[in-house]
Amino acid sequence: MRKVRLDKAQTGVVVARAIHTLDGVVLLSSGVRLTREHKDKLLNYGITEIYIEDPYSEGISIPELIREEVITEVKAQVKNLMTSPSVKVSVDAKKVGEIVEKLISNILNNEEIVASLCDVRSVDEYTFSHSVNVSVISIVTGLGIGMKGDSLHDLGIGALLHDLGKVMVDDTILKKPGSLTSAEYDEVKRHTQYGYEILKNSENISQDACDIALSHHERLDGSGYPQKLKNNEIQVPARIVAIADVYDALTTDRVYRRKMMPHDVLDYMLSLGGKHFDKNLLDAFVRHIAYYPVGTAVILNSGEKGLVSEYNPYFPNRPVVRVVMDENGHIIRNGKEVDLSQKLQYRVVAIWDI
Ligand SMILES: [Fe+2]
Repeated sequence: MRKVRLDKAQTGVVVARAIHTLDGVVLLSSGVRLTREHKDKLLNYGITEIYIEDPYSEGISIPELIREEVITEVKAQVKNLMTSPSVKVSVDAKKVGEIVEKLISNILNNEEIVASLCDVRSVDEYTFSHSVNVSVISIVTGLGIGMKGDSLHDLGIGALLHDLGKVMVDDTILKKPGSLTSAEYDEVKRHTQYGYEILKNSENISQDACDIALSHHERLDGSGYPQKLKNNEIQVPARIVAIADVYDALTTDRVYRRKMMPHDVLDYMLSLGGKHFDKNLLDAFVRHIAYYPVGTAVILNSGEKGLVSEYNPYFPNRPVVRVVMDENGHIIRNGKEVDLSQKLQYRVVAIWDI
């Protein structure tokens, strides 16, 4: 199995994972062969990627940090929560707490803590997917630095609701296709204060969670907003969510730009360690994120091409690659597996665009 861009997917390939909306409507079932009509329908829904089964990826299974059904259920619950009329006043801490507990227990049940959040989502559902992903990545990073109990729970809640204040910002600004005026941009930035106020107004929401809503756009060098806080003035939970937020936003397709590949985003974020992001937290985060998620088609320095078939937890940028094409472009049947953590003469030089 592997994930491909929908516009690149050949008609006739077998769909490996069903695609459904958060309201439970199945847009495409697994096992069917992709048709032109399927592609048009999915593109209309803003779906940009699908999982397929093809000869190259036979036998490769993509590990899931949290089962897809659980994630879909959680996203639907988050959608309900964020679209309820009362959300502009306060949130139901019990409901949010249950959602976060479900995420934490699912993550703890997984032996290998590697966030490989290769989910397929429509553009309309971005907000809810983003909230859940930021919560998952934050929890994984928090666990990586030894957080547990209430502090981990509050981190998950704050991460899930970090952008809640956007419910107070007018949709005409949030969904404006062109660039924003400076007054409009100031209003968007105010989602941090709006979110803080809603959470402060809610019963049983911790100060940590409120701080996350307020401070997730602060940067260590003081170039963030709204308070231009620096270094230790920014609470650790908010520093974690700042990392998770940027990672998830950049690895997702948006209306105005195409997503970046995980390894490019990680390199970019590492270059900002100590400037925008906390270096120690960045280290904990990078250890649990796949540079090259399983199923990624890559080109090696030898000129051979293949698919990532396994992830090496201790060498995030040196996965196991199944070579399916030699350096002369000939397809190799029963391709050899090259473990880049063992064979140091090999490295990934580029993404193979197939
Ligand atoms: Fe935000």
